[in-house]
Amino acid sequence: MSAIQPHGGKLINRLAEGRERQELLSRAAGLASIQVNNWTISDLDLIGVGAFSPLTGFMNESDYLSVVNTMRLADGTIWSIPITLTVTSDQAAKLSIGQEAALVGESDGILYGVIEIESIYTVDKRHEALQVFKTDDMEHPGVVKLFDRPDTYVGGSIRVLNRPKPEKFNEFYFDPADTRRIFAEKGWRTVVGFQTRNPVHRAHEYIQKAAMEIVDGLFLNPLVGETKSDDVPADVRMKSYVALLENYYPEDRVFLGVFPAAMRYAGPREAIFHAMVRKNYGCSHFIVGRDHAGVGDYYGTYEAQELLKSFPVEELGIMPLYFEHSFFCTKCGNMASSKTCPHGKEDHMTLSGTKVRALLRDGICPPPEFSRPEVAKILIEGMAEASKTYAI
Ligand code: ADX
Repeated sequence: MSAIQPHGGKLINRLAEGRERQELLSRAAGLASIQVNNWTISDLDLIGVGAFSPLTGFMNESDYLSVVNTMRLADGTIWSIPITLTVTSDQAAKLSIGQEAALVGESDGILYGVIEIESIYTVDKRHEALQVFKTDDMEHPGVVKLFDRPDTYVGGSIRVLNRPKPEKFNEFYFDPADTRRIFAEKGWRTVVGFQTRNPVHRAHEYIQKAAMEIVDGLFLNPLVGETKSDDVPADVRMKSYVALLENYYPEDRVFLGVFPAAMRYAGPREAIFHAMVRKNYGCSHFIVGRDHAGVGDYYGTYEAQELLKSFPVEELGIMPLYFEHSFFCTKCGNMASSKTCPHGKEDHMTLSGTKVRALLRDGICPPPEFSRPEVAKILIEGMAEASKTYAI
């Protein structure tokens, strides 16, 4: 088993099995039910498999307030993003503290789990937005999602009864217990986790490979839960990761597995959350580059790094690896950052997202210094198929 301690010291397992599952299934028929959407189902499942250890359920009021205001759970453990279950006021009226409720998929009627209700509370969403996203601007994709939800939350421990079935790329789904076992089987004592919601371009490849020089393995862990509509869809990205790994990475040094969570776009706070979760998957190191989990101009280029640095590494329990903005330098003739390149901006290849999108839309591969041709080709095909332009 991996030597990396899960966050909070113990890998949580809330998957109901065997007799317990049968008993819960029969009891659930008589319980009040809460409708849950795909985002909540993915949170439920990630709590269930321990990806969100030490959480054993959706946050109760004291943990929620503590996380929103101090980036720690009520017991002091570092945690930066609220993981919450919302209910409409109609649903709330049928629930009471101390009772269980069934968590039922709103679109498929599947009974995904049961919650033991510890707390029912109303929140100040504007305060949550300002604390978590540092803005209440409705242009921010995380803020819109937050304001779209009801403002009554239900907290309590959960049990998972049925797991969401991946529609695509099943073979890349692994629970933290699986990845921990796999890393140990590979003999990897140090593993660097890489979060991404984008295709892997040359800058991503450069920082991954710089990290690979000092650790045993890379866990390429793309987020494939809900993302904003102009992000490149997960199935196109997965194809591009496979092509990239086949052509440019040593097979025995990389492991590709998805992170089926929703993207919050909370920048610095999400970087902490991403690091804690990768620790649960068994990573010893975690890459944080420029504007991690950011969107638009809401966060400073290195704000995520600065926030992580404000916590003691021993307490984080995972070693963040910080990278500066990376680019191809035509004078150096290789990828670099301001830490390694003495040349001026005029020698650095910069391509705006708009320019790259236009090229791909016209079926033209961006320069290989920006993106590998195998990756560009898949993005061109993906855009043509969906008749859509993605943010790059
Ligand atoms: S994110 O929302 O998942 O953070 P993205 O997939 O673009 O977005 O980034 C994945 C990781 O690579 C993040 O840690 C990010 O900071 C880093 N990164 C992306 N582009 C660069 C770059 N040009 N230079 C350095 N780091 C980068």
